[in-house]
Amino acid sequence: MTRDNSIVVEKLVREFKKGPRAVDGIDLYVAPGEIYGFLGPNGAGKSTTVLMLTTLLPPTAGSARVGGYDVRTEGPKVRSVIGAALQEAALDPLLTGRDHLKLQTMLQAIPKAERKPRQEELLDRVGLTDAADRKVGGYSGGMKRRLDLALALVHRPTILFLDEPTTGLDPQSRTALWEEVARLAREDKVTVFLTTQYLEEADVLADRVGIIDNGKIVAEGTPTALKEEIGRPSIHVTPCREEDRQRIAELMKQYGEPLGSERELVVRLREGIGLVDVIRAMDADGVVVDDIELRAPTLDDVFLAKTGRTLEGAATGEDGASAR
Ligand SMILES: Nc1ncnc2c1ncn2[C@@H]1O[C@H](COP(=O)(O)OP(=O)(O)O)[C@@H](O)[C@H]1O
Ligand SMILES: [Mg+2]
Repeated sequence: MTRDNSIVVEKLVREFKKGPRAVDGIDLYVAPGEIYGFLGPNGAGKSTTVLMLTTLLPPTAGSARVGGYDVRTEGPKVRSVIGAALQEAALDPLLTGRDHLKLQTMLQAIPKAERKPRQEELLDRVGLTDAADRKVGGYSGGMKRRLDLALALVHRPTILFLDEPTTGLDPQSRTALWEEVARLAREDKVTVFLTTQYLEEADVLADRVGIIDNGKIVAEGTPTALKEEIGRPSIHVTPCREEDRQRIAELMKQYGEPLGSERELVVRLREGIGLVDVIRAMDADGVVVDDIELRAPTLDDVFLAKTGRTLEGAATGEDGASAR
């Protein structure tokens, strides 16, 4: 019998004394083997949710079952099936990567004969074999995150929680981590619950995305479905000559709803209108443009539609400086 490595959350609430309702009645379901991206700006309630699902913080109300076990009443069982790489990574700068894995295999009571092979396998898996005997204090941000991930995998969890695993990483380290997470889900059928502030991360990596803002889930679905819900792509035109701007704007208005006009003129295309239609019309009108581009809606358009703010804007808001 295969274990049910799903996550089922109903009306989950967490209040802090004098604080806000950090998590304000969320419902969600993560299917076995699925990568679920929990996307939201700083302070949205992502970490608080993860802390409850990993049994580190008791819910104020509501329920959550992780791997079939109740986070309130079956903490040890939940902890036996999950792995977690949280934002406050507890790495010791004076120990090496291998030391950390050695300790973790002991803490997780991996049988003695299996410890060494398990360490080597995990070091290899996250690409730290060559750096295994260096002190963690000298590791880059990306290497620390990869070590975190290896530590979370020591006891072969079937459900993995990653809280902003790539925040602050350079694009290359980010891609490497995405590949590893994707492989865990595809090959090892691990269920992954991952929080992020990055649209692209949710878009590229997640099978389904939940967008959280002020403790509430404001949208949920596959990235494709969420973007389709927003609808039509937009056309962005940079006029060649400033004196043509007005004329181009008038022309574009016939094909969709104007969205803005700073340097670029932008319209959200009406149903049934394509880029060619606009280009033909401009051609017929003898209009010259520097650049014309069709852009599909992004998850930021989804966030904007649901909250009235852009995620990038929200992320650099009041508490933007304290990334954790
Ligand atoms: N221990 C705490 N005590 C009081 N308020 C808290 C505590 N932890 C988080 N909060 C508040 O709860 C809200 C959600 O925080 P958090 O879950 O950390 O958001 P995120 O991980 O999405 O950035 C924020 O307003 C934050 O200030
Ligand atoms: Mg957080």
